[in-house]
Amino acid sequence: MPANSLEQVRNLCMRRGFVFPGSAVYGGVASFWDYGPLGVELLNNIKKAWWQDTIYTRNDMEGLDAAVLMSRKVWQHSGHEATFSDPLVDNKKNGKRYRLDHLLSQQTEEVLRGLLRRLVQLLKMPPELFETITRERIVSDISSLLTSSTLEAQIATKVGIPGARLDQPLSTTFSANDRAELIRALARAVDELPTKAEKLALVLGLQDQIGWQPVDQEPSLRIAGILSVRVAKYLLAAAKVVDPSDGSVGEWTDPRSFNLMFKSHVGPVEAAVGTEEEAHARVYLRPETAQGIFMNFAHVQRAMARKVPFGVAQIGKAFRNEITPGNFIFRTREFEQMEIEFFIKPPQFVKEGEKNDQQWHEEWVEQRFKWWLRYATSPSATLEERDATASRFRARAQTPDELAHYAKATTDIEYLFPGSLGWGEIEGVANRTDFDLSAHSKEVPEEDLKRLKLEANHDSTEKLDYFDPDAKARYIPWVIEPSAGATRAMLTFLCEAYHDEVVTEPTKQQIDQIKSDAAMIRKNAEKKIKEAQKELAAGREAKHDPAKVEAFLKLLDETVARLPESLTEVLTALDHEGAQNLEPVKKFRPPTEKLVEDCTRTVLRLHPALAPVKLAVFPLKKNKPELVELAQAIKERFQRHFRVVYDDSAGIGRLYRRQDEIGTPFCITVDFESLEDGTVTVRERDSMEQERVKIDDLPGYLSERLQLS
Ligand code: GAP
Repeated sequence: MPANSLEQVRNLCMRRGFVFPGSAVYGGVASFWDYGPLGVELLNNIKKAWWQDTIYTRNDMEGLDAAVLMSRKVWQHSGHEATFSDPLVDNKKNGKRYRLDHLLSQQTEEVLRGLLRRLVQLLKMPPELFETITRERIVSDISSLLTSSTLEAQIATKVGIPGARLDQPLSTTFSANDRAELIRALARAVDELPTKAEKLALVLGLQDQIGWQPVDQEPSLRIAGILSVRVAKYLLAAAKVVDPSDGSVGEWTDPRSFNLMFKSHVGPVEAAVGTEEEAHARVYLRPETAQGIFMNFAHVQRAMARKVPFGVAQIGKAFRNEITPGNFIFRTREFEQMEIEFFIKPPQFVKEGEKNDQQWHEEWVEQRFKWWLRYATSPSATLEERDATASRFRARAQTPDELAHYAKATTDIEYLFPGSLGWGEIEGVANRTDFDLSAHSKEVPEEDLKRLKLEANHDSTEKLDYFDPDAKARYIPWVIEPSAGATRAMLTFLCEAYHDEVVTEPTKQQIDQIKSDAAMIRKNAEKKIKEAQKELAAGREAKHDPAKVEAFLKLLDETVARLPESLTEVLTALDHEGAQNLEPVKKFRPPTEKLVEDCTRTVLRLHPALAPVKLAVFPLKKNKPELVELAQAIKERFQRHFRVVYDDSAGIGRLYRRQDEIGTPFCITVDFESLEDGTVTVRERDSMEQERVKIDDLPGYLSERLQLS
């Protein structure tokens, strides 16, 4: 069984030097992590495996390392400055701030239905729509409807503006010419609203704020933005959306867009935001590495004399000022991406027998899916274990309302993380069409701009098209983008590799002892719960939190019921916050810990190519110089090829356990026989099997089994 909680993986990472909290000396900064000695090895190995498989083993790929800081214009024309944002609302009563979709996802079914009903009234959609849809759908619909500008899209679609799309904000859906029509349509939509509170609130709100009359207005997207904001605020109040922190109805502010890009400035700028000087010097820390590749498409193509189809791969840091980072290193504000932009022919130039965009998309999804499975599986895994690993990965096509503004189709590769995190995206494979290169190119034909809903780019100095010698034509290539997170990959591989195993069956007597200890703990805990309840009922402080103690007892019962295989989990249960200050727990912890140490091991069944340390060498006795010398000589023989460690700081059994816990595939022990016949004991991590191997045969033996390339 792989890890059954992120906590197990996180504890191991902290204990063994994979990951440390960032700036810990000053109390840490939320969601920034430092990668320790083993973490940096693992991360480097993941990136190396990706780089080798993506570039070296293919004939159609090149590498790149673009600057993190790029011209602000990159982010203006890519659409990130306008759209890469999350909506936030504040509760004026207690100052708490929430991401709108997260707030909605914590509401009861009743509140959500109330919200949707009001929206339906506002938009005059058929009521059947919300009778049949699921809770998830309601949350996602409402949150996307309430965020600025998508509501106008709904109205625009409803009133039949040609080209309106339900899944796109209007700023990307409409060209400037359509805006006058849009505003007229919005005015009509407002006029059509039921002449009740909704209409009044809406119209009065607008009049209050900008003195707008819902007829004959100047075209302005600002009005459209304010319209949805007013509706959202009104709806949150009308549906009595509650604050999850205390369960009371909140006094919600207007939802505000919060751009996820970190701002900085080039040069000594002290001007305030909003001034021309500041705007001129502003740069962003890149939120994706992809744009660096688009900037260099033509350079790479010319310098390397590449013909389409070809791809460019890049690994690098990305930064997002995430509103809700968390789940250890799953969602962080600084992370690493491994991205490919694969340039292909536009559909109209694809000849018979060549792959079209959809086929390239499918092929990349398949390739990338295989990559994840390959490195998530230890070569020693049985068929059954391989199937189990495969069942924790899936490829899921995004629904139209999930698609980013640039994507025609996206398939997410997801992993089933342990605990409440559940299925999480680890890579997105997107068909970005010719959106990006067209967005950054000068002189794009009018009909293409219209099709892509782009404005002409007058800042660009380059035409990002390509002369296809076969087609004898110029075109802007389409792009398939497999985009994976390197740090998220590290969490994925760690979760899948983590195993707690019983290596020596505890005796029946030892198991019975734990069961009787657990019964004793329960008796004491129940007494403490009653005492605490009395104290609380009398309005006094209690030593124990009854709910937490109950939760601890539930966990203890559940783990004890699965003994012996759950031995390590029983020990972890004793660290539960509800177990604190319970006297019997303090008493029973040391013997349980000893039993866990004697009978179990934690092992990271990492693919050998990813393992931070490939080989550990031990002398059987550290006070025998001839054994130490030979062990060190073996270490030196391999140290230029991969990470190998020498260790003599404990007995062999304990040294094996330490290496198992960090995923070292092979351990070598040098003993007295080695001095006589030139052989050593090689112990394999997963099976724990040992065999004698000639020292001279070690290079061949290890290179075959470590699968380093
Ligand atoms: N260029 C496309 C792009 O950036 P994305 O889905 O936003 O697409 C791609 O990101 C991958 O980057 C995700 O599948 C995930 O593995 C990783 N990623 C995104 N945001 C992340 C974060 N805040 N922390 C860690 N990894 C993240």
